[in-house]
Amino acid sequence: MSLVTIPEMLHQMVANAAASVGCDNSLVEGEQAQPTQNPKFGDYQSNHAFRLARAMGENPRALAEKIVSALVAHPAVVSTSVAGPGFINFSLSDSFLSAHLQDQLCSEGGGIPQGGAGRTVVIDYSSPNVAKRMHVGHMRSTIIGNTLDRMHRAQGWTVIADNHIGDWGTQFGKLIVAWNRWLDADAFAADPICELERLYVKFGNDADEAAHDLARAETAKLQAGDAVNNALWSRFISVSMVEFDRVYGRLGVAFDEVLGESFYNPVLPGVVAALKAEGIAEESEGAVIIRWPEDGPKGLADTVLVIQKQDGAFLYGTTDLATLAHRKKTWSPERVVYVTDTRQQLHFRQVFDAWGAWQPDHGMDLVHTWFGMLVLPEGAMSTRKGNVIRLMDLVDEAVSRARAVADEKSPDLSEDHRAAVAEAVGTAAIRYADLSQNPQSNVTFTWDKMLSLEGNTAPYLMYSYARCRSIQRKGEVTPTTAALGIVGPFERALVMHLIRFGSAVASATAVYRPNLLCDYLYETANIFNRFYREEKVLSAATEADKERRLALVEATASVMRRGFAMLGIEPLDRM
Ligand code: ARG
Repeated sequence: MSLVTIPEMLHQMVANAAASVGCDNSLVEGEQAQPTQNPKFGDYQSNHAFRLARAMGENPRALAEKIVSALVAHPAVVSTSVAGPGFINFSLSDSFLSAHLQDQLCSEGGGIPQGGAGRTVVIDYSSPNVAKRMHVGHMRSTIIGNTLDRMHRAQGWTVIADNHIGDWGTQFGKLIVAWNRWLDADAFAADPICELERLYVKFGNDADEAAHDLARAETAKLQAGDAVNNALWSRFISVSMVEFDRVYGRLGVAFDEVLGESFYNPVLPGVVAALKAEGIAEESEGAVIIRWPEDGPKGLADTVLVIQKQDGAFLYGTTDLATLAHRKKTWSPERVVYVTDTRQQLHFRQVFDAWGAWQPDHGMDLVHTWFGMLVLPEGAMSTRKGNVIRLMDLVDEAVSRARAVADEKSPDLSEDHRAAVAEAVGTAAIRYADLSQNPQSNVTFTWDKMLSLEGNTAPYLMYSYARCRSIQRKGEVTPTTAALGIVGPFERALVMHLIRFGSAVASATAVYRPNLLCDYLYETANIFNRFYREEKVLSAATEADKERRLALVEATASVMRRGFAMLGIEPLDRM
């Protein structure tokens, strides 16, 4: 069962009334009622009449009044009024609101609209380059991408999470040369990826002209199928994947597909040939390029995408075009979403445009959702040469700091329990510090803020959830929402807020901004904590008060669990 939301329901009432007084609702699109910011304007407000009047050239206030008097009475609506220049305010009955919350909690998806049912999206995220340790630059793609993945699934989408790893290209020729010259076998045995990284950095620093020529030759040999180079290449990939998987495991990230760039290599000559045959790509000084004219589309004018170099090598964009063809053929998704940093905006604009020229009827919605850069706390983590900060070190640091907090605040928990709490809190804090900011802003990590038990942080949310569980534990009650109801402003505010869960998830997903879901959950914790401060739960005056408030505790816990699941935060019963 998919639930009709309150904004949808109210909008329908307004639209029906408007139609009955002769308005054409199609004049304004996508209209819905909104929860009001200020209770003096009722619970929800619709601006449909206002916008209709503007479209019709009528007086908005007069039209709003006409529509209000044509509204058909509804048991949920206690009163309506016209406010300001023509807004319609609704006050809803307490019994309706709590029944609605009850339906929401019992419905499939816990009140999250299942708008993705029967729809497929490919989400391309994380996608690190192999033979290098994943560094914090890949962290945002991994965490934001994984959260978008979970948010889509929660709305019923079929998600193909595809890790498009960079496992092909000229870096391998360099690495092979460095390996042959400088390998420290003991170091490799002890920490393979650290040694590969050292070799790669060393090549960058020490390689002379001859070494660069040799690297090009080794890349060519690899691409031509040379057995020795291919064996080395496989080895580089497998040690990298072991390292990536450790990080993914700790951050709760999993993929449906890991189709790296190398997977597409065999079809690249065909892609280039097709683009040339279609007149989309052209030869230029021995290379093959796609060129956008000076009067080309906005953001693309006068730009060039090289799809094959003079030496015959194919490039990043060539692979992305082949990848789109593969995705179309394999999953025929409605949408493909790419999650990378801001620097790849031009790349994706070019790839999407070239793909549209090549396959005009592809019918896929292509989205590049980019994010800003990550800035680290000064000094806290040492930057190696090349400014590489290992993601694994960051996770370890967060967990050890969370452990110190757990040791100090919860000495009564067992050693194992504190270790488990630290792992959950540390990894959640990392995820949340990233997710809780507008993706397109630059993010600065501050350990103290990230692990604080107050403010908009993972520990604060987790602590609020644990409080719900502790109330249930102390009261020795079986969690249930059966007695939901509303008495007084604090209960009402909590119910009103919990009802908005589904629309908060839907709107955060629609704009690819997990931070809007974080904001919603932060507010959930605040409103719950205020309710808990103001009202007695276990020691309530009457049994009915206690039951009703316990139902609210469980309703809050249930919404938080679902919200946490999307953010990748483990709900802890105790911390
Ligand atoms: N490997 C690239 C990088 O590390 C990101 C790949 C993003 N996905 C894609 N299909 N191009 O920057």
